[in-house]
Amino acid sequence: MKGGSLKGKKVLVTAGPTQESIDPIRYITNHSSGRMGYAIAEAAQKRGAEVVLVSGPVNLAQPAGVHVIDTVSTEEMFTAVKSHMDADLGIFTAAVSDFTPITRMEGKMKKQKDQEIVSIDLKKTPDILQYAGEHSTGMYVVGFAAETENVEEYAEDKLERKNADCIVMNDVSDTSIGMNSPDNEVVMLFREGAPMPFEKMDKRALGEQIIDALIQRWLG
Ligand code: C5P
Repeated sequence: MKGGSLKGKKVLVTAGPTQESIDPIRYITNHSSGRMGYAIAEAAQKRGAEVVLVSGPVNLAQPAGVHVIDTVSTEEMFTAVKSHMDADLGIFTAAVSDFTPITRMEGKMKKQKDQEIVSIDLKKTPDILQYAGEHSTGMYVVGFAAETENVEEYAEDKLERKNADCIVMNDVSDTSIGMNSPDNEVVMLFREGAPMPFEKMDKRALGEQIIDALIQRWLG
């Protein structure tokens, strides 16, 4: 098999968007398809790892041999991650919502006559990657940085702030890559060692390359 093996290793992956409920029929979400995380989970499983995939709401088939935990909100994703902090490698690809409504309305939010502007109060969600970075007892922590500007600068900052071992950065201002597209083009930044750039490619192929790069850098 090309690349090293992950036999005996437990790998935790988060993928997809989250949905934050406003009322029983409305929610806040984003354009994440979950493809990158699913491809990474599948690649890790192929390399022999026990894989737990904590997924937001996506339209993708469950990868064979992978333990999928379906979640909806950031809070649910966070709870699932906290119960798998014993993983050896954590890859946090999910496009987690940064904010959630302070309260979820019991009934449908009604349109009020003559009300042109409506506001919904939001609060910050828990930062799952940061939690993993700060509470890791041996987990090699990998985050993603999807930015539209100053990508490299933000990625370096994320590596430090979130206590991660690696950040996979991509520029989502280019709509032919990232978020909801089949392809991605990334650069991996490591706490130890030189950055690794990858050519633009299909997310499944890239999932394999990211796993192989992690095996090389993490397990040496
Ligand atoms: O800070 P920012 O959201 O740009 O960081 C992106 C990275 O952090 C991704 O790896 C994402 O999965 C993770 N993240 C998270 N929980 C959040 C926000 C981001 O795990 N609440």
